[in-house]
Amino acid sequence: MGYEVRGVVARSKGSPVTVETVLVPDPGPGEAVVAVQACGVCHTDLHYRDGAIGDDYPYLLGHEAAGVVEAIGDGVTNVAPGDFVILNWRAVCGQCRACRRGRPWLCFSTHNASQPMTLADGTPLSAALGIGAFIDKTLVAAGQCTKVDPAAPATVAGLLGCGVMAGIGAAINTGGVSRGDSVAVFGCGGVGNAAIVGSRLAGATTIIGVDIDDRKLEWARDFGATHTINSRTTDPVEQIRALTGGFGVDVAIEAVGLPQVYQQAFYARDLAGTVVLVGVPSPQARLELPMLEVFSRGGALKSSWYGDCLPERDFPTLISLFLQGRLPLDKFVSETIGLEDVESAFDRMTQGAVLRSVVVMS
Ligand SMILES: NC(=O)c1ccc[n+]([C@@H]2O[C@H](COP(=O)([O-])OP(=O)(O)OC[C@H]3O[C@@H](n4cnc5c(N)ncnc54)[C@H](O)[C@@H]3O)[C@@H](O)[C@H]2O)c1
Ligand SMILES: [Zn+2]
Ligand SMILES: [Zn+2]
Repeated sequence: MGYEVRGVVARSKGSPVTVETVLVPDPGPGEAVVAVQACGVCHTDLHYRDGAIGDDYPYLLGHEAAGVVEAIGDGVTNVAPGDFVILNWRAVCGQCRACRRGRPWLCFSTHNASQPMTLADGTPLSAALGIGAFIDKTLVAAGQCTKVDPAAPATVAGLLGCGVMAGIGAAINTGGVSRGDSVAVFGCGGVGNAAIVGSRLAGATTIIGVDIDDRKLEWARDFGATHTINSRTTDPVEQIRALTGGFGVDVAIEAVGLPQVYQQAFYARDLAGTVVLVGVPSPQARLELPMLEVFSRGGALKSSWYGDCLPERDFPTLISLFLQGRLPLDKFVSETIGLEDVESAFDRMTQGAVLRSVVVMS
């Protein structure tokens, strides 16, 4: 039987996305269909449209979403129809070598729905990050659904499904930011500002936001940056050292995905400090660093997949902090839009006019 719904599709590299009729199958064993209520527009969706992630067109975009479980397949026990859930794009398998060693946040074999959603003519769609949530209803693996308190609005809850979780987790889970630390965050978009919020939550005392756009820096201060630097006009490495007694920060978080920004993060860090790469680089990007500097500066160079989060642990906790007024998730929502507005939201994202545009299903 299945469902016939509307979804936002990128048909070919770089061409504007369109709203298409999409066929969603009934959930098979281990799968769930979720009625999407809200889905944020993340920079990764634009990377998909532009071919920076792969060439498996057509893509069904959207992956930062919350909604209500509509139907479940055989054997599903973690959620039931009617549950309010956040969708996650790293459903852990429990069986791979990372999971078996007690590091499920690193799971090397995360899973998605096994049946494809298709265009009306039967062409299978590649779902962005195994989700595809700019759509009325989506099919996912049941493990991609994490139940949270329905008191949180879907527009806010959905943001934890990607960018905000990636940023908070990059600071707290990957970077291990802790009380009294100094942190620099390069790129103050949705992910970077979430890293600022996470650093503040963890007790960092110096939090430096770096961006090339003054409007983003204003938002960064609003989210808790104690200092900001426009790296278009000021050398951020020199300035960060000046703000930290000449030493550099304990944790430098790269939330852009560019080699030159990674180098700034590398040099802006104190001896034995940590660099966290959460920005996604293009396949062409190349990094060149003096190997002796990598050795003599010590510390750790880490990448953050999805903020090294565990959805079942982190989503309900962060929703609870939001409901207690301790986490300003609502401030990330710059505007709410319709499904047909995703392409124009990409323009506003590129112009730096928004932190998050959130599609709300009608
Ligand atoms: N690792 C993960 O799991 C994960 C999850 C979500 C998003 N991401 C990635 O994180 C990155 C940021 O995503 P976003 O949604 O916040 O995007 P965004 O467009 O909202 O923010 C990017 C920010 O970087 C700034 N910027 C651009 N060039 C810069 C430069 N040279 N120096 C300093 N700042 C610069 C922009 O002004 C903007 O504020 C993207 O690469 C995205 O794909 C990674
Ligand atoms: Zn695993
Ligand atoms: Zn994303």
